[in-house]
Amino acid sequence: MIGAFDSGHGGLTILRALTAHLPERSFLYFGDHAHMPYGERSADEILQLTEAAITLLFERGCRLVLLACNTAAAVALRTLQQQWLPAHYPDRRILGVLVPTVEIATGIPWAETTPRNAHNVNRSIAIFATRRTVASNVYVEEIRKRAPHITVVQQACPGLVSLIEQSAPRAELRDAVQGHVRALMAQMNGAMPDSVILGCTHYPLVADLFTEMLPAGCEVLSQPDLVARSLIDYLKRHPEIDTATPAPSTRFLTSGDPDTASHFATVFFGRPVQFQSVPLKAIV
Ligand code: DGL
Repeated sequence: MIGAFDSGHGGLTILRALTAHLPERSFLYFGDHAHMPYGERSADEILQLTEAAITLLFERGCRLVLLACNTAAAVALRTLQQQWLPAHYPDRRILGVLVPTVEIATGIPWAETTPRNAHNVNRSIAIFATRRTVASNVYVEEIRKRAPHITVVQQACPGLVSLIEQSAPRAELRDAVQGHVRALMAQMNGAMPDSVILGCTHYPLVADLFTEMLPAGCEVLSQPDLVARSLIDYLKRHPEIDTATPAPSTRFLTSGDPDTASHFATVFFGRPVQFQSVPLKAIV
């Protein structure tokens, strides 16, 4: 079984792509709705919450957990992979969403960390993300390390995750996205980015609004699809990570209100989805 974790609804965008690409696998989703938005929390809190969420999924039988949350991946993934996992669950794996996103954005494999000579000079990438992901600077560092010819501009979108979680009226969401796009364009002195990364898994839920507000011709990278493709590739390369189950199923857990989460997911998936309530053991 494969676990997928996010602070709330956002990881469902990744999960939908995973279930579409890997229909023969079983998934267990955990949304930490009780503690969202992670983007406004301290790095230490995010680390604790992410560790507790992964433990919850491992203890329910997941061999591999995908952090379907840019904020958790940006802040906690490296520490958990390098220090916590070997000591507590040496035979399990944790993956994130940053690695495949950086690979697609740069066209350079993650393993290649020395700068490549630029063929296509002066490319620019804009990243919309939570305040905490922007503060981590991980996207900027990882892209620059491999592709110093790419200019990376970040735009934090505080408040947007909460509006999405509350299923805010469309006009309110449009105003919020417009404000964030305008702030980005001001940072870039009106120049158009070549590509845009929606670097928070909630934002694909309003991808159409970003596309509407951004200048025409600006490519918006779809994180759900690229993450799903990358996971397929990973599973092929790592047959020892046995995530097979007798019959495929997808189950949903939340630390928040199961009715609200179920309603949102039912609309999003276009079929009945029932979340179960679980407490998250974390001291934040
Ligand atoms: N969906 C998450 C992300 O990808 C975080 C949202 C939040 O809780 O702030 O960053």
